[in-house]
Amino acid sequence: MATQSVEEHYSQGGLLDRIRTGLAALGATEPLEIDLLAPVDEFHIGGRLATEPLIAALDLGPASKVIDLGCGLGGPARFTAHATGAQVTGIDLTPEFVDTGTALTAMAGLSDKVTLTQGSILDLPFNAASFDAAYMIHVGMNIADKARLISETRRVLRPGGRFAIYDVMLTSDEPLEYPLPWASAPDQNAISAPGAYRAELTAAGFQPISETDRTDFAKDFFARVAASQAAAAGPPPLGLHLVMGANTAAKVGNMVANIRADRIAPVEMIWQKPFS
Ligand SMILES: C[S@@+](CC[C@H](N)C(=O)[O-])C[C@H]1O[C@@H](n2cnc3c(N)ncnc32)[C@H](O)[C@@H]1O
Repeated sequence: MATQSVEEHYSQGGLLDRIRTGLAALGATEPLEIDLLAPVDEFHIGGRLATEPLIAALDLGPASKVIDLGCGLGGPARFTAHATGAQVTGIDLTPEFVDTGTALTAMAGLSDKVTLTQGSILDLPFNAASFDAAYMIHVGMNIADKARLISETRRVLRPGGRFAIYDVMLTSDEPLEYPLPWASAPDQNAISAPGAYRAELTAAGFQPISETDRTDFAKDFFARVAASQAAAAGPPPLGLHLVMGANTAAKVGNMVANIRADRIAPVEMIWQKPFS
């Protein structure tokens, strides 16, 4: 898949200015509280509510070094550093996300704990065994070469390091409705079935720890978002509409419809690189 096409899908321009305007409307002051940013910087189903259990499964502490693969604006990275004290390195393809995320990290006073860098997770600019743990949230849907993604992750993990994945995965052969939050058109979509992840992880020598289908959680989350939107006069000052642009409703609506029709499902997987 052409990385330029993926990058174009995610780049709207002017993102930091829109977030600054939202923060001003909320009367936010620095250092920013990371909870205030969560509606706009956690770009995945369930937002912070989904990040918390995924990160808890990694058993991190202040001495841990963790890599966030496809970090986006860095919301999960800042949460992880704040909640566990770990040193978090995020990497993402989209320059606008990395630049905006780096500014938000500084505004939150977390620059000593969180570093975001631009690059592809298919070619990680890090030495072997540099990280104690890795996680990837809603990124695999853009990555056709899952074998390469997994072998690169294995390379940078220390022996015994855990790899947590929370991706939207394919659960039927039926065609999907577009646009989607991760793809404007089919050529940007590389969504795979859970079995494809398992096969590549197993082939790379990872060992399974757990797997959870988060469909019920997602449906509940969407119902609560719909109820709060119906009760509100307009969009909130900070939300994913600032990130996804003018066709946010179509992207989210199609994703929800695809999940309700059991064509796709959010799935959490925890795997481990063996000790030897
Ligand atoms: C839906 S967003 C999720 C962002 C973040 N993980 C989060 O949950 O807030 C998907 C992200 O994957 C990134 N991405 C897609 N392909 C990538 C690649 N080959 N290397 C690095 N990042 C990639 C995109 O730039 C985008 O930021």
